[in-house]
This record gives sequence, structure tokens and C-alpha cells, in this order.
Amino acid sequence: MTLSWTPETWKTKPREQQFNYPDPTALQSALAELQALPPLVTSWEIETLKSQLAEAAAGKRFILQGGDCCERFDDCRSNVITNKLKILLKMSLVLVYGSNKRVTRVGRFAGQYAKPRSAALETRDGVSLPSYRGDLINGIEFTKEARTPDPRLMIRGYGRSALTLNFIRALAEGGFADLHHPELWDLSFVEHAEKSKEYMEIVNAVGNAIRFFETVMGSSLGDLNRIDFYTSHEALLLEYEAAQTRNPPRRGDRWYNLCTHFPWIGDRTRALGGAHVEYFRGIANPIGVKVGPSMKPDELIDLLNTLDPEDEPGRITLIHRFGAGKIEKFLPPLVEAVQRAEKTVVWCCDPMHGNTISTQSGLKTRDFADILSELTQAFDIHARLGSILGGVHFELTGDNVTECIGGARGLCEEDLGRAYESDVDPRLNYEQALEMALLIAKKMSLKRQA
Ligand code: PEP
Ligand code: CO
Repeated sequence: MTLSWTPETWKTKPREQQFNYPDPTALQSALAELQALPPLVTSWEIETLKSQLAEAAAGKRFILQGGDCCERFDDCRSNVITNKLKILLKMSLVLVYGSNKRVTRVGRFAGQYAKPRSAALETRDGVSLPSYRGDLINGIEFTKEARTPDPRLMIRGYGRSALTLNFIRALAEGGFADLHHPELWDLSFVEHAEKSKEYMEIVNAVGNAIRFFETVMGSSLGDLNRIDFYTSHEALLLEYEAAQTRNPPRRGDRWYNLCTHFPWIGDRTRALGGAHVEYFRGIANPIGVKVGPSMKPDELIDLLNTLDPEDEPGRITLIHRFGAGKIEKFLPPLVEAVQRAEKTVVWCCDPMHGNTISTQSGLKTRDFADILSELTQAFDIHARLGSILGGVHFELTGDNVTECIGGARGLCEEDLGRAYESDVDPRLNYEQALEMALLIAKKMSLKRQA
């Protein structure tokens, strides 16, 4: 039985991560303004991504999803965006080499502005204020004024998303032609790596393959190939998501979230019967579901039956995030349950969110070795069980930050203070992200040869 759905039915369900806007009239007026604006993405782009995800589910394509834990309005700047696209593009070329598959790039960007929090309040020196929930909801400054949820921020966030996406679309048309050539990449970290010879072999192989292709085609890859990037974010703030949920012409009764191509449900808001699942079940976008250690096999199948009763290929991506020490215990029962239920999903490994640790001084960090370990185990577990790891999901930046420890330069706790910029989760920096791609490529090419 399918219960009737509209972009508003989630309002009748219990909602995690709840907070209140103090002024209901201001909220209504912001939502009316948002509803009247043109969409950010189109239903045909969304359907193209869904068909690519269907290929990933079948093992014919690989998904690279990555970007900031939380975008900030102030980071809507050309160099920040360009660097993020560049690292995703380079990683994707390395992964094409490793997997021998086409790679779809999905950014955590152009709308990743709302964050789930573990506590509703933050206390400093005896003063308690609402927690910062992302630039889309309130301000980060520790004052009553900044921390009060402001619906006008949704309009600003929508504008920032549009500016980001506009720049991405312009660059995708040809601004990255040269980046196909690894000789133009910054690879100075490689000489510090234990596996430097192996890294250079992969980089050279990528360069040779591209030069061969260009010689045969008689023109540069950058001229031939528009570089697509799809957008994604955690669809946490349902008022915002619902305001741009449309039933476009000639799409029958299909409704699309036109804020982003690929919204996902966070690990904290995926309760069956909750508001977020109610919203997601009615939209036609491909959707991600974060899956952490508390997910039970039966619960997962109930969730899949609710979100994807027709078992539409490409519809569901399960983004698992257990931690290096937990994946062996928690992933296999879920894979087996999905296999028994004969469901089609893309399995995607997020090796970040189960591996967060705190330093002595209270900074959040992640160890490169734990991230790699969870990924390596993910490839092995899926191979052993006869399922397919179709993608990877990272928190990363194209800049030279120092937030995660480890990697070729051996960043340690003392280095973190140097350039720690994240206000939420720690990200891989440019070098760590590229090195991670080289290591996965190596793993995938060894698997192919086995
Ligand atoms: C995130 O992706 O930033 C996040 C909060 O993840 P999760 O829902 O998996 O904890
Ligand atoms: Co995060």
C-alpha cells in the first residue's frame, strides 16, 4: 500500500534534528521567495546521474563523491571552488586508470550548508546557546543573535549554491583542459612517500594513456570531453528542500528535488517513520542513505522497501561508514540481507565518518591509515561476498590544510595547528586526497589482475 505523498507530508512525522524559527511569518515569506526562484538543476540531469548510478550498481562505472564536511558561505570563492574541482578531476582520472571504468564525479558542494549536531545546545563559560547548524540555518559566532535560526539564510544559501554551480558549469565547459596531463599536477609529495615508485608508475600510465588517446583522436582530451560534475548534499533542512521540490512538465506524477542532483539522508535522520524518510520516499532523484553501525539488516530492508519499492536501478546508494575497526563486523550482514532481498543498490564506502578521533588538545582529526584501512577492507568484503563496491565518499579539499594526520608527508598532531580550517569534520588535503586515489587505484588494478 502506498500512502499518498506531497512535498509537505513530512510535516506530519516526527523529526530528528528539530529546531524552531522564532518568527513564523518571516519563515513563510522566505519560503515563498525560495519557491518563486528558478531551480538549480534539471530533472534530465538528475535522470542522467541516476542512469550512471545504475551502471555503478552493475559494476560498469565507479562513483567518486567528495567535498567539504560543511560548506561555508564565505568559501564561495573562485580559488576554493576551482581547487576542489581540480582535485576531484585528478582523483577521477587516477580512478579511471585503476578501475578500468568510467568515473562519475559528485561533489559535496553547491548546497552542503546544513549540519546535524549531536547536541541542541553549546555551552561556553556557563553560557548555553543553540548549536551552530550550518550557514543555511544560523551563524557560527557564539552570540545569541548569530545562533538564532534565521530563515533569510535559506535565501542566501540558495544564492551561494547558484553562484557555485554557475562557476562549476562554466569551468566544466573547458576550463580544465590541461589538467588531463599529470605532468602539470603538483606531485611534490610523491618523493616523500614510501610507495613513490608505484605512485609514479600510475601517474605515468595515466599520462601515457591520455597522450595515446589524443594522438589517435588528433585533438586534446579537454577539447573533446566536457567534464561533468554532479552536486550532492545532506538534505537535512526539509523546509528548504521542499521549497524547490517540483513536478516538472512531462514527468507524469514524478516530483524532483531541484536544489541538487543527489540528496542524501544522514545517519542521524534515517529513522523509518521519521520526517526525512517521508520526504525522500516521494522524490524521484537518486538518493544516498548513510549507513552506520546502528543499522540492523531488517531495518535496512524495510527502509529500501519504503524508499524504493520498485527497486529502480540507480535509485539508492548505500553510503556505509562504520570505521576501520567495525566494518568487518557490521558490513557483511547488511550485504547479505540486501542480496537475500534481491535489491539493487550502489554500495559506496565513506571511510571518514567512522574514523573521527580527538587529539589531546580537543581537535577532531582522522588518521590517513584508518581511512585507507576501512577502504581496503570495504573492497575485500564486497569482493568476498560477491557484491560490488561502486563508489567512494570523502571529505576533502583541494587546499593545503592540515586536518587529517598521516599520508606521504607524515603529518602528525603537532602539524594540525598550522592550517586547520574546518569548523566541523577534518578533511583530507590536496596531497592526501590524491595519494588516497593512487592507493585505491592500485588496489583496484590488483583486483582486476587477480
Ligand atoms: C556527513 O556526511 O558530514 C555526516 C554528518 O555524515 P553521517 O550522517 O554519516 O554521520
Ligand atoms: Co562530516
